[in-house]
Amino acid sequence: MQTLIPYLAALHGIAATLWIGGMFFAYFAMRPAAVETLEPPLRLKLFQASFRRFFMWVWLFIAVLLLTGYSGLFARFGGFSASYLSLMHGIGLLMCIIFLVLFFGFYLPFSKAVSAGDLPKAAALLGKIRWTVFANLMLGIVITFVGIAGPYL
Ligand code: HEM
Repeated sequence: MQTLIPYLAALHGIAATLWIGGMFFAYFAMRPAAVETLEPPLRLKLFQASFRRFFMWVWLFIAVLLLTGYSGLFARFGGFSASYLSLMHGIGLLMCIIFLVLFFGFYLPFSKAVSAGDLPKAAALLGKIRWTVFANLMLGIVITFVGIAGPYL
């Protein structure tokens, strides 16, 4: 297990980077660009198609983060030996819960509404998706600070 630790830590960092980077791109680049260039029906279809792809990856990132996070926590630190580790675990689980709400509560009904042509409903759900992505992005930035600066504080 000890020889696996560097690889687990690297995988943890890679999954975190890809999840957080994807949210940053979606929120700060793709969404405003879509608003600027596309009419609502096409814009909603673009979001449906891109969320379908991105969220499938997010499931994988979450599985990797939880697996590598808890195995690293116990193999390297013997459990919650420092307060920044408890913070990492708390914020990490919160991000996963927010993603579950986003996926099942907003994204699946959003996708159904787009496919059914119910654009007002889809637009309302997209607003909720936007805020939950923003919340997870902010938590993702905080958790990165905790994970990287935590050992030095
Ligand atoms: C929920 C369960 C999680 C646990 C138990 C956990 C555990 C850990 C541990 C033990 C470390 C190593 C700390 C050190 O080197 O001193 C770490 C680092 C880190 N974690 Fe987490 N983590 C979790 C979730 C997350 C999530 C959801 C993200 C971001 C999306 C994340 C991002 C990071 C980052 C950026 C680092 C610093 C770089 C690295 O060591 O890979 N973690 N985490």
